Amino acid sequence: MPLSLRPHLLIVFLNCTLAASVAARAQSPALPPPVTFTAEQDQQNMMDQLGIKALRPGPSGNEKAPNHANYDESQANPYPNVPDPLTMNGGEKVTTAKMWWDERRPELVEMLSKHVYGRVPRSVPGVTWRVTAVDHEMIGFTPVIAKDLIGEVDNSRYPAIRVRIHMTLVTPAHGKGPAPVLMMFGRAAFPAPNEPSGDELERINAAWKAVLEAQDPSLKDVMAQHPAWQPVKATPFQFPQMNEDGDLPNTWQLAAAGWGFALLDPASVQADDGAGLTRGIIGLANQGQPRKPEDWGALRAWAWGAGRGLDYLETDPAVDAKHVGIEGVSRYGKAALVTMAFDQRFAVVLVGSSGKGGATLLRRNFGEAVESLTGGEYYWMAGNFMQYGASEATFGSKNGGDIPVDSNELIALCAPRLTFISYGIPEKGDAKWLDHQGSFMATVDASRVYALLGAKGLGVEGDLRTAKMPPVNQGLLDGQLAWRQHDGGHTDAPNMKWFLEWADKFIGHGAPR
Ligand code: GCU
Repeated sequence: MPLSLRPHLLIVFLNCTLAASVAARAQSPALPPPVTFTAEQDQQNMMDQLGIKALRPGPSGNEKAPNHANYDESQANPYPNVPDPLTMNGGEKVTTAKMWWDERRPELVEMLSKHVYGRVPRSVPGVTWRVTAVDHEMIGFTPVIAKDLIGEVDNSRYPAIRVRIHMTLVTPAHGKGPAPVLMMFGRAAFPAPNEPSGDELERINAAWKAVLEAQDPSLKDVMAQHPAWQPVKATPFQFPQMNEDGDLPNTWQLAAAGWGFALLDPASVQADDGAGLTRGIIGLANQGQPRKPEDWGALRAWAWGAGRGLDYLETDPAVDAKHVGIEGVSRYGKAALVTMAFDQRFAVVLVGSSGKGGATLLRRNFGEAVESLTGGEYYWMAGNFMQYGASEATFGSKNGGDIPVDSNELIALCAPRLTFISYGIPEKGDAKWLDHQGSFMATVDASRVYALLGAKGLGVEGDLRTAKMPPVNQGLLDGQLAWRQHDGGHTDAPNMKWFLEWADKFIGHGAPR
């Protein structure tokens, strides 16, 4: 008898061990919690991985400081050769569109990923979007539909980090079809929350008064003496904050022109901080561990977030997904350009005051330096980029002239799509630090790639070294690659009306009547 029991016991035993191992896998006890580093510790960790002992300090933005940045144009071009977007790494000239698409462009994508902005990990988890609320609003005089959205990133492989991308999408309520949409890096929120009607306010006020009286019965008297008084009132009409040129805010202009817009919160994707690199989407993809040298930095992560936002927009019938743009100013101007360069589904970009790491040549020595991007701003970039700020390392030292790519090639990756490079003026606060001239040089040079692909660039005579910026407020807006320096400060708002006119012309979109 005992013998006949044996197979049964074996099955019970097997079942138990199987159940135990399934439970163990579900709890993933082996995964440690996210590493907690300060930005300094994180930067040091990357320096150790790269064999860097010391970094050259970045210059000061304060012109009175002894170590201030260079603002002498005669010293601004220390490296004689800027990499050529139309010469293969092996030296062969790129002469056809096919050669650009099949050979040169992939080379540039690879170098910009490996050395400058980092790679998006293959294993980056998927995102599931859901609409959390829909509001019917007015942007100026235009009725719109505003949707608040959350993109939940799958964290089943590492539940200790949760990433929820926050985006608000605003589209015309009475559009004649799907609308072009400008995605903008910034706070996501309902832009003009619809308020309760008069009847609804009455009910709210009745409830409020009851609550107040319940809290303090002596208030009954006060209420009785002021029976018409209402604690909650409709917000009176407010004039919007005009931009420096006296024009309406960007969102008002977009709505009036029949565009939609999407506000994408970059901080909901990745913190703007080196200490955050073991969290956010970069941390989630690395299961809470510090980056490796080729991993993405915050700029590429924000750009990835924008791409996931576009994934949603492609599913929304109110959106003309073939005409979605991306916009940002300053660090988000860099992120907007990076988004456009790497994700070819974006049709148009407005790059505001992006400076180094954006449109400005990395090889220029004017204002913000490569050493600024390898110093306090290191986390925007790939870990590898830090090598170019190293003064002492196992590989010796490197500088901006050693970077195998430059911003003319980043802009070229956007070709032949609509790319508007925007700046303001130093007198109004768009600091010299940003190096307007260096951005212009890169844009002029990228024009050659637009021409190769049958599009039009800036249409400026001469090469990048002799290129002179046009006067302020005089745009170069005839081509798919465009430039305009407005007479305002560190913002792209004074360029919005020029941007819309230019973009509408190329995409064949007219303002609603
Ligand atoms: C600093 C930084 C720039 C950046 C800017 C900003 O000036 O050096 O790279 O663009 O901040 O984003 O506000």
